Amino acid sequence: MAPNAHLTALTRRIVDRSAQLGIVGLGYVGLPLAVEFAQAGFRVVGIDVDERKVKSVNAGTSHIEDVATSTLRPLVEKKLIRAQADYKGCDKLDAILIAVPTPLRKTKDPDISYIVASLAAIAPQVRAGQLIILESTTYPGTTEEVVLPELTASGLRVGRDVFVAFSPERVDPGNPVYQTKNTPKVVGGVTPSCTKAAALLYGQAIDHVHPVSSTQAAEMIKLLENTFRAVNIGLVNEIALMCEKLCLDVWEVIDGAATKPFGFMRFYPGPGIGGHCIPLDPHYLAWKLKTLNYSARFIELASEINGHMPEVVVRRASAILNQAKKSVKGSKIFVLGVAYKKDTGDVRESPALDVIRLLQEEGAIVSFNDPYSNAFRGEDGRVEKGIALTSKSLAAADLVVIVTDHSVYDYASIVKSAKRVLDTRNATRAVTSGRSKIEKL
Ligand SMILES: NC(=O)c1ccc[n+]([C@@H]2O[C@H](COP(=O)([O-])OP(=O)(O)OC[C@H]3O[C@@H](n4cnc5c(N)ncnc54)[C@H](O)[C@@H]3O)[C@@H](O)[C@H]2O)c1
Repeated sequence: MAPNAHLTALTRRIVDRSAQLGIVGLGYVGLPLAVEFAQAGFRVVGIDVDERKVKSVNAGTSHIEDVATSTLRPLVEKKLIRAQADYKGCDKLDAILIAVPTPLRKTKDPDISYIVASLAAIAPQVRAGQLIILESTTYPGTTEEVVLPELTASGLRVGRDVFVAFSPERVDPGNPVYQTKNTPKVVGGVTPSCTKAAALLYGQAIDHVHPVSSTQAAEMIKLLENTFRAVNIGLVNEIALMCEKLCLDVWEVIDGAATKPFGFMRFYPGPGIGGHCIPLDPHYLAWKLKTLNYSARFIELASEINGHMPEVVVRRASAILNQAKKSVKGSKIFVLGVAYKKDTGDVRESPALDVIRLLQEEGAIVSFNDPYSNAFRGEDGRVEKGIALTSKSLAAADLVVIVTDHSVYDYASIVKSAKRVLDTRNATRAVTSGRSKIEKL
């Protein structure tokens, strides 16, 4: 076979849509990606160890808010998407994209066990002519140090027989403007042929592809993006603490600074950070640097400040109740929103869970409401269930704490019915009456 015959064959199959794709992990990243490729005309097999997700996808029902069932179902009916809970038939696939979780261990060290587990299932089936792309966020070096050796253990040569790349996902759940298709995709291959094959594949489904020189650069780009957010949120949270000391309204200060048309970018303070990315990803970078005897100071500081915000919320709640001659112990506190981000139901790493736990530890009687996620499992494994948001449930609380600023909430009615409100997101900015009841972060 000529040196680049596998690349030529793969290219042809990608361009004429006969290439079969596998997407490992049908979560927030994998399912939208599967839909995008299916809409571009590819047959996609989704592999997920969670049988419930497999069943729901095969029934054409989406479990991800950003993917409408009305979008998914026709693709399943046309047999462009199907899901399975095992790795059978990976050798038949032309490209496999891995989008499994990359959490942290309790020690804040990277937990790449999901990547390792999926590789262990894929590697024995890898054959010449395949393209394997890691999408999960991870530390620089993972693709070459962890993924590549597994895929080439059988003697396949990277860039000649098998093509390996890293391409970070940038999905922003709930973003009405930027979704998978119109968010530029960074791609870095182990060799130029790997980059070429991966960029070609993404180019079929995604509007703009940005190739970079290596897998490590692609891995680092993702970590820069999320570290940038974590550090700037940490900065603005600290500015909020400073404003509190100075008796200034941090929201007014941010609005004022944002009138500068250059050199300033808005970030908002809040009860802390959550989700699968911002609180976790920078630690992947910090961990890697630790192995090189370098301390990632901005990351550590931002993590400390952001991680402290739920305690700030509880301190503020306590101060408000104190003004009303009440203690946290025994007070009824109604938390609005438990998702980490507005208009989503994602409670992973949500600061609301910390706020609720800390309030409970102080003896408060805490209830909550979230229109997107009205039940969650606490650290102790117990399922906490939300209550209805009514004028009665609001009025019954000694304090209402707005933790997530969901757009569907009617903030004027909330303030009207509540005795007191602690607004950690400036969600009540447009409310005109009852302002004396509102305290902001
Ligand atoms: N959610 C986001 O907004 C976002 C954005 C950018 C990047 N990322 C990154 O993308 C990756 C995936 O994140 P996500 O939010 O989609 O996670 P997720 O938990 O929503 O989905 C991951 C899926 O992988 C499945 N899975 C776990 N182990 C598996 C295995 N061995 N084989 C097959 N399937 C397996 C899980 O059942 C789950 O459905 C992570 O590295 C994350 O950091 C996430």
